[in-house]
Amino acid sequence: MKEFSGIPAGLDRAPRATLVQLRSFEAVARLGGVGRAAKSLHLAQPTVSMQLKELSSAVGVPLFEPQGRGLTLTQHGEVLLQTVRDLFAAWQRFEDQSAELQGLKRGRLRIAAVTTTEYFLPDLLGPFAHAHPGIDIELTVQNRDAVVARLERGEDELAAMMLPPQHLPLNRWPFLENPLVVIAPAGHPLTQKKRLKLTQLTDQPLLVREAGSGTRLASEQFMADQGVQWAPRMALGSNEAIKHAVKAGLGLAVLSRHTLPQDLTQTGVAVLPVAGFPIKRMWHLVWRKDRPLSLAARTFLQELRRNLGVRAQPAATP
Ligand code: PGA
Repeated sequence: MKEFSGIPAGLDRAPRATLVQLRSFEAVARLGGVGRAAKSLHLAQPTVSMQLKELSSAVGVPLFEPQGRGLTLTQHGEVLLQTVRDLFAAWQRFEDQSAELQGLKRGRLRIAAVTTTEYFLPDLLGPFAHAHPGIDIELTVQNRDAVVARLERGEDELAAMMLPPQHLPLNRWPFLENPLVVIAPAGHPLTQKKRLKLTQLTDQPLLVREAGSGTRLASEQFMADQGVQWAPRMALGSNEAIKHAVKAGLGLAVLSRHTLPQDLTQTGVAVLPVAGFPIKRMWHLVWRKDRPLSLAARTFLQELRRNLGVRAQPAATP
């Protein structure tokens, strides 16, 4: 170990705040309220409030001020938030480097994935998980907007999504087709038709995913390109909720074909033969160009390419 002749810069002023307090502070700042932060951290609300109070007195200034029914950061709070994120990013780099030193014997692979990929991503992770039992895999499944926010904060190494954001420096590898289809309740008169135009559907109630969903965004973009107006009747927060609502006869919907089993007979829904459908989109694995990938993530990408039998060079090779 190298010997230091003096105290490293800043060490004599080591923070009195604890990492646990900083983690709660970051969650409250990100989620905009103590209740939501407590829920996401699996802590009791008074515990988080106490941690914030202690943190505030450790730094000697208020970090939040009330705004409406929520909380907003003070100027000091903004500066602390950036510091905390830098600190956590540095810790993550340490974990990655330490895992690198241990090869693939120990480590962690963090992946964020949009909800539509939950139907197959675990299968793609399976071979890697079996081959590298020492690597902990953390798979977070959320909608597109939430995955983009995680990518912005650099919380995961890899993300699986259909519509990667343009504003981030990302490597992208289109790895699987994502056909989007129109579904109707089984037995609906439209299911008898051999061929339909999109305009023949627009008097039917349209069920869409919540704002922030990539599926919703892709179908809105498609309809705008076709010059078709089809106003949503109802927004639902998951693919499963949409399928149940369609089955119950509440309307039609555009969903990834992968959210449905191959054989539709038991599902209570049918795919309509609409011109222009399936909308052909791809899922991408993306990762930030400005952050080095860990050995675990690089290995996962290489093994996945091999398992999927990808012969053509992807847009960015792992
Ligand atoms: P989402 O997924 O609708 O759950 O956001 C979209 C996607 O496949 O990228």
